[in-house]
Amino acid sequence: MDQKHIRNFSIIAHIDHGKSTLADRILELTQTVEKREMKDQILDSMDLERERGITIKLNAVQLRYHAKNGEDYLFHLIDTPGHVDFSYEVSRSLAACDGAILVVDAAQGVQAQTLANVYLALENDLEIIPVINKIDLPSAQPEVVKKEIEDLIGLDCSNAVEISAKTGKNVDQVLEAIVHDLPAPSGDPQAPLQALVFDSLYDSYRGVIAFVSIKNGTIKPHDTIRFMATGAEYEVLEVGVHTPKEVTESQLNTGDVGWISAAIKNIEDVRVGDTITNANQPADQPLQGYREMNPMVYCGLYPVDNARYDDLKEALEKLKLNDASLHFEPETSQALGFGFRCGFLGLLHMDVVEERLEREYNLQLIATSPSVIYHVYKTDGTMEPIDNPSALPPAQKINRIEEPYVRAEILVPNEYVGPMMELCQKKRGEYVDLQVLDDIRMQLVYELPLSEIIFDFFDKMKSATKGYASLDYELIGYRPSNLVKMDILLNGQVVDALSTIVYKDFAFNRGNAMAIKLKELIPRQQFEIPVQAAIGGKVIARTNIKALRKNVLAKCYGGDISRKKKLLEKQKEGKKRMKMVGSVEIPQEAFMAVLSMD
Ligand code: GTP
Repeated sequence: MDQKHIRNFSIIAHIDHGKSTLADRILELTQTVEKREMKDQILDSMDLERERGITIKLNAVQLRYHAKNGEDYLFHLIDTPGHVDFSYEVSRSLAACDGAILVVDAAQGVQAQTLANVYLALENDLEIIPVINKIDLPSAQPEVVKKEIEDLIGLDCSNAVEISAKTGKNVDQVLEAIVHDLPAPSGDPQAPLQALVFDSLYDSYRGVIAFVSIKNGTIKPHDTIRFMATGAEYEVLEVGVHTPKEVTESQLNTGDVGWISAAIKNIEDVRVGDTITNANQPADQPLQGYREMNPMVYCGLYPVDNARYDDLKEALEKLKLNDASLHFEPETSQALGFGFRCGFLGLLHMDVVEERLEREYNLQLIATSPSVIYHVYKTDGTMEPIDNPSALPPAQKINRIEEPYVRAEILVPNEYVGPMMELCQKKRGEYVDLQVLDDIRMQLVYELPLSEIIFDFFDKMKSATKGYASLDYELIGYRPSNLVKMDILLNGQVVDALSTIVYKDFAFNRGNAMAIKLKELIPRQQFEIPVQAAIGGKVIARTNIKALRKNVLAKCYGGDISRKKKLLEKQKEGKKRMKMVGSVEIPQEAFMAVLSMD
């Protein structure tokens, strides 16, 4: 199709403002997928893909649209991940587009991730179409929300489309706006190939499949391509698009968004944000914006059953094949045995990986509490990055410790500004700015240690603001902090997997809270277990877990056999995640106890 008739766009929105619902309606209206078949069809292909051992992500769908002016258009709808953990990936998906549809909930208005996504879209020079969704809701205030978008974002809303993605009302106008208000891709088909890699996945038969947006030039089978960041070269086997079914094409042209397969077995060669060029006629420069992705949060993952170490290793290797940002290396813990130190983009990423390991690979895991990467400057003048508290050098060898800080932007209703500031202050936040957004909300800016955010910040924020605040943050660098390692001793023995790095002024409270929490979590055993928190050998808190044999059947007075069974089942269930550490049996939750403390 003529390049002028191509439109490449993403839908951007705050969580739950209706991005997926609108995408579904667009697929229906362009008859990409029949309404009736929609769910079935997409799910069918997913099951199939699953059998072949890959996870499908509907990252880019090609749609054909017959516009009201009688002409046909080719749309590429590019999906973006919707969470702050993945903001670099969001940015690269947006770089694959020329425009974006900004969906804002008519009842909720602009939220933190609306702003964050708009900034990313503007950084990538995208044209933005504002769309006000959920106008069917009684609480919808489209006029107020439009004014908000104009005031906060500076986007002209006189042509904003008011829709209900749920009922389908006015969604056709969104399609027309895509045709008339978004630009066609501007690249040069004669120029050397520059294809932006915005996503990839691993197929056990074909190797890595790269998802690309062709910015300049063309690509076809038998071309020799080069990944500009890594220098890796391959011969292209097949190219194609998703409609959402996978379709093979003879060639991808400037403006197309599709996939490339080239028997790439090494996932490291294909990096999101990299530029693919033709090895025989290479572009001078890669496209802008490539950045190496580094994990921000680390934790240890251990199989509950030590015999499954090799299974865990294999599962991690497989997951890494379609998740290049997952890092892992072997680690041993005196308490937990053999496992892996794993690095993630953020807590959500960590949860997703853990869940996939448990569900898809049937592994039972113990995860240690997450840690950021500390920069430890030693007395010998060297710096050591430390992502595992138990690896911290002894205090006398440390000159200073620096920790990562983030700039957090929080949108909060006026009445909760006080509690929100209190929370930030409590989490060692440094106040930067407070601005009035509109009649009801303010934007609060704080600089906070990342370690304070990854613990329970989201939950605390929710309860401080009844769920009405929204947060977005970005890393701003390292700063020195007064940090110490806190050890936990059970029965007089240090349990390395329970060690944490804490802010010194918080150490006493945390140590106390941790000891109390562990007393709650660790079941009584046949002997008394002292629980101690210590810094550099000095005990700062102590409790005891009294000796008692718990008899779960005692309450049942004989009678009801099914009830008895249920209780036994339950107890068994609870037992599954126990780990013997020395002579003490510790449940999985204990290793995460630090997450649920002040
Ligand atoms: P994430 O996938 O979590 O980022 O959310 P999303 O932005 O994709 O939102 P999604 O489409 O899943 O919609 C969130 C909720 O809003 C769902 O329960 C939808 O049914 C509902 N919803 C979406 N559009 C409308 C609408 O126009 N009107 C009403 N009343 N509800 C809607």
